[in-house]
Amino acid sequence: MEIALLVILSYLIGSFPSGVIIGRLFFHKDIRNYGSGNIGTTNTFRVLGKPAGIIVLIMDISKGVIGTSLPLWLGYGHTYLMLVAGAAAVIGHCYSIFLKFTGGKAVAASAGILLAYEPRFFIVAVLIFLVLVLLSSMVSLASILGSILIVLLSLFLKDPIFTAFLAIIACLLIYRHRSNISRIKNGNESLVPFGLVYHL
Ligand code: G3P
Repeated sequence: MEIALLVILSYLIGSFPSGVIIGRLFFHKDIRNYGSGNIGTTNTFRVLGKPAGIIVLIMDISKGVIGTSLPLWLGYGHTYLMLVAGAAAVIGHCYSIFLKFTGGKAVAASAGILLAYEPRFFIVAVLIFLVLVLLSSMVSLASILGSILIVLLSLFLKDPIFTAFLAIIACLLIYRHRSNISRIKNGNESLVPFGLVYHL
């Protein structure tokens, strides 16, 4: 398959609006009108509950995994093309063609890139994320700080292209969390009902 077609296919896979579809199909709710208005896992948990949240989490991670793995499956090998295709899936998730180029905040789909490209790093990222959520009680803050820590930790892999790629993804993720950043600054970001800050 042509590389351009492959990238477009990854973008379309990333564009699949899991949270919106699950909300509409099973709850007759457009998740964009509730909670933070985001279509991602956190807002799905918040608005539609645990089972829906878990399904959307798996679907959104899968978009990153499938997008990133496409070049491998199509015989291009384990190359940087996987990162390009993975990035296309994340861009699709954030700027979905099915949602008039709006979308999520790049967290789960980016985790999918790590899972497909560098699984050991995925495990590290998940552990860092969980510790940060437990400390801050804020998924948004944990996602932002986690993405920065992952960039720094990737320096140990001595793969400057991978680190530069992760830095670009972290910038996109932080940019997509603009509204959360203002809420964190104003002290009114929503907390998950566990973790240190929630119990203070
Ligand atoms: O899943 C994205 C998360 O970091 C923040 O989501 O709904 O609290 O804006 P939300």
